[in-house]
Amino acid sequence: MVLYFSATGNTRFIAEELASKLDDESLDLLNRIRQKDYSPIMSEKPFVICVPVYVCEMPSFINELIRNTPFEGNRDIYFVFTSGGYSGISSFLAKCKVRKKGLNYMGSADFKMPRNYIANDTYPELSAEEINRRIEVSYKLIPEIADLISSGQKLVKRSKHVWLFELIITLPFTPVWTRIRQGVKKFRATDKCIGCRKCARLCPLNVIRPDENGRPVWDAKMCAHCMSCIQNCPVEAIEYGDITPSKKRYTFDRYDFRKKSAKTHPEGLNNTSFLQKRPHSS
Ligand SMILES: Cc1cc2nc3c(=O)[nH]c(=O)nc-3n(C[C@H](O)[C@H](O)[C@H](O)COP(=O)(O)O)c2cc1C
Repeated sequence: MVLYFSATGNTRFIAEELASKLDDESLDLLNRIRQKDYSPIMSEKPFVICVPVYVCEMPSFINELIRNTPFEGNRDIYFVFTSGGYSGISSFLAKCKVRKKGLNYMGSADFKMPRNYIANDTYPELSAEEINRRIEVSYKLIPEIADLISSGQKLVKRSKHVWLFELIITLPFTPVWTRIRQGVKKFRATDKCIGCRKCARLCPLNVIRPDENGRPVWDAKMCAHCMSCIQNCPVEAIEYGDITPSKKRYTFDRYDFRKKSAKTHPEGLNNTSFLQKRPHSS
């Protein structure tokens, strides 16, 4: 079974394509995460956990879910990470976590996808060409990863070696970064807000509550900064401080070549050679 969390669609895309190649089912973990539902998950086929990388690790709510959820049936477990290019110590920590649960760690695969961390001004925005290129390269990698999983092989070739210095730097760095940089104070809804509450429904940590006008209020000190609220707002009414007003929103959906209607491609993607070559998947 392919289990996934995705805030802006990158990981959902990889997970669903993998599940289809593996002839397996996929399970969106959002509701389990929101409800802290740690009831057992049963699969006859290997578990494949697909998640984005947050600050060089798996999101903490995924760690919590893995720690608390009994995985029943098959004992093999694979990890698939999507990131903006650096998955840090995710694979090392995943291995430690699942071994403690008595599961067979079968390795991990990295997919370099478009960055979605719009509330962070460390990196420049990617061009539409670069976004399409990353999606294309990742799409081409999926069959290879699916073949390895379906034949029961470990994903050793694609997993990055984790150096000791990465562990030493990252382990203390991530909690500090999270405390300093992942507060909610700078989130706000502008007058464009239509009160649809989509942001509240998508928030994995359930920290968004509607006020009396149906507008979002971030009712916590911190959140995961997953960017689901900002990026998925249908009217782009959510901003983060002065970092986001001038930035383009990103969701995988906007670049999804599998959609048939040309109208749904704001970037005119149907004209790229990438799309002309590629057969439509189901
Ligand atoms: C809070 C946060 C932290 C991130 N940290 C990293 C990181 O350490 N390295 C990296 O390469 N990408 C990082 N990213 C980018 C995401 O991992 C990447 O865009 C991912 O594919 C998003 O997946 P999704 O669309 O399924 O949510 C980060 C994104 C967010 C929101």
